[in-house]
This record gives sequence, structure tokens and C-alpha cells, in this order.
Amino acid sequence: MSDIKKIKEDFILKLKENLNLNQVNEIKTELFGKNGLISSQFKKLGTISENERKNFAADLNFVKNELQNLIIKKIKVIEINEINQKLEKEKIDITLPERSFSYGKIHPVSQVIDEISSIFSEIGFSVEEGPDIENEYNNFTALNTPDNHPARDMHDTFYLDDRKELLLRTHTSPVQIRTMIKEKPPFKIIAPGRTYRSDSDQTHAPMFHQVEGLHIDKNINMGHLKGCLNHFIKEFFEIDKIKMRFRPSHFPFTEPSAEVDIGYKMKDGKIEIGDGDQWLEILGCGMVHPNVLKNVKIDSKNYQGYAFGIGIDRLAMLKYGINDLRAFFDCDYRWLNHFGFDPLDVPSNYRGLSR
Ligand code: DAH
Repeated sequence: MSDIKKIKEDFILKLKENLNLNQVNEIKTELFGKNGLISSQFKKLGTISENERKNFAADLNFVKNELQNLIIKKIKVIEINEINQKLEKEKIDITLPERSFSYGKIHPVSQVIDEISSIFSEIGFSVEEGPDIENEYNNFTALNTPDNHPARDMHDTFYLDDRKELLLRTHTSPVQIRTMIKEKPPFKIIAPGRTYRSDSDQTHAPMFHQVEGLHIDKNINMGHLKGCLNHFIKEFFEIDKIKMRFRPSHFPFTEPSAEVDIGYKMKDGKIEIGDGDQWLEILGCGMVHPNVLKNVKIDSKNYQGYAFGIGIDRLAMLKYGINDLRAFFDCDYRWLNHFGFDPLDVPSNYRGLSR
């Protein structure tokens, strides 16, 4: 009997035995591995005479295919057996109750930060971030805030060391400084984030949120500031008309400085923004003070611009009719389920900011 025939018969018998997957794989290697029986036969091809080669090759291929097919079939049979055994062993108890799962909600503050970022990105602002723990220089000195300013007082600021060098930032304005030190003008950024002050009542929490805006370029004036804020407020409250007024104010880091009020009226016990003869203060702003620009080595003869700071929590309360700020940070799931937003509804200027 030729070698090939012998291999074939031996292995047909072997493959009839009761084998597991490992054993079949061993057989596979024994036959078709690098030095396997069939592989070695193929290597012989070069050594036999031309007359015999044709028949030899044909036989060899035939046996090779046959054994390969047998192996494939055997593996299938083993796998099916395994599944059947599993099915017999594992019983599903369909009387068990389903596993409970809960849906997450987006917190109104996160929602409003996303909405604000979406609106400002549309008009060319990029989003910057800064740390919650700031140094005194970025938070006060670089922002032209004098030593005797009340904001520096212990009653207002949480200091982290006796020398009053590290503190929890009292506003997002230090991100202006960080950005201007890091890069070269022009700047067109917003910086949302957490801020801290020693304050707590129905409308004040020791931790709250602000968004800072900064636009520095050649020839930027107060008209740009007004246009930008007017656009923002209309987009944010999703209304076409807005009543807005600039009230002179004072911030050390801007000159001139203003606070912006928007018009509203009460209707059925609810605030309605955009019309009416009542005024609500919503942000502080102004033209960046030349001293601030000097501190970050920008020549204020060439570059100038505006800045603004908006209280995010306040905006969220106004837009979504939430009247106690403290509930924002109580981590009460019932509250979050009521006021929270669907995680899949990402705010977008095209699809609508809030739906
Ligand atoms: N940082 C100010 C605050 O917390 C808000 C503010 C006012 C920011 C005027 C500004 C600005 O950038 O120009 O009260």
C-alpha cells in the first residue's frame, strides 16, 4: 500500500473515534503542520520522476482534501455536541424577575454649560479650562485687583494656606490670564467652570458656576461686546426679541465696566424673559483694563477687547424655572429625574438647544 493510502486509511479510522476539540487539532497538526505527514508528502514532489509526478500529485491532493473535509466536519460535530450538552445542562428560570436598571440624567448645570458652549462656538469662540485651585496672582493681582479690595477678604474667599497664596478661585476670570500668558493674541474664548465663595443662602452656594468670555483683537470695541451678548441671550433663552440694558458698574479688570440686565415680566407666577418692565441682572462685563493686558505682556495700543462673566446656575434657574439654588447640589435623584435632561439629546443650535 502506498504511503498516501496508508495515511488516508489510518486517519479516517482515527477521526471516527470519539475525540475532543484538542485531539482533532492535534491530528490536524500531525497531518498538515510544517512537518506533518501530508506536508512531507508534498515536499517529495520534487524528488520523483516526471511520469509519476502527475498521478502522485493528483492522489495526494485528493487525500489532502478528503482529510481536510473530514476534520472540518468532525469539528462541527464536536461543537454542536457541546452546544447541545450545554443546553441540556443549563436551564433558564423564566420566573425570575428582570434585573432593574436606571436611566441617567444630565444635570441642568451641565446642560446649560453645553448650551452656552454650543452658542459661543457658533460665533467663533473656543472653550478653555482652568483649575479650581488658583494662585493669588491669577485670581486677583494680574486682574488688577488691589490689595484692599473686598473680594480678597477671608469672608469672601476660601484660602488654602496661611500666606494667602493659594485659594479656590472666586471667579473664572483667572482663565483669561492663563490663556493670555500661554498664547499670543488674538483671543476669542469662553471658560466655563466651578467657582467658590464663602456665601450660602437661597440664591448663593459656596460652590457655583460661571462662564468667562474674552475677546481680544485689533479694533474690538464695546459695540462688539453688545452685539455678542445680545446674540447670546436671544439664543440661550430661545426667543427672537430681548430687552437688554447696560448699567455702569465697576470691576477692577475692566474699564469701562457694566452690568447687563434683561427685561422680564411675571406671568401666572412664572418669569417670562424678553419683555415687560422689570429688570434682572445677569452678567458683568467691560473692556479689558490696559493694566490687565500689561500684566500679560500685551501691548494695549495694538490689542484691546472685551470680557464678560456670567453666572451659569442663575441662567439655569431662570431658563428652567428652578427656584432654589441649593437643590442643585443636594444630589437628590428625585430632583435630578425631574429637572435633568436626556443624555442623548445633545444641545445643538440646529436641532434646538433644549427639547
Ligand atoms: N469676575 C466677575 C465676578 O465674578 C464677573 C465679571 C465681570 C467677569 C466683568 C468679567 C468682566 O470678565 O469683564 O463677579
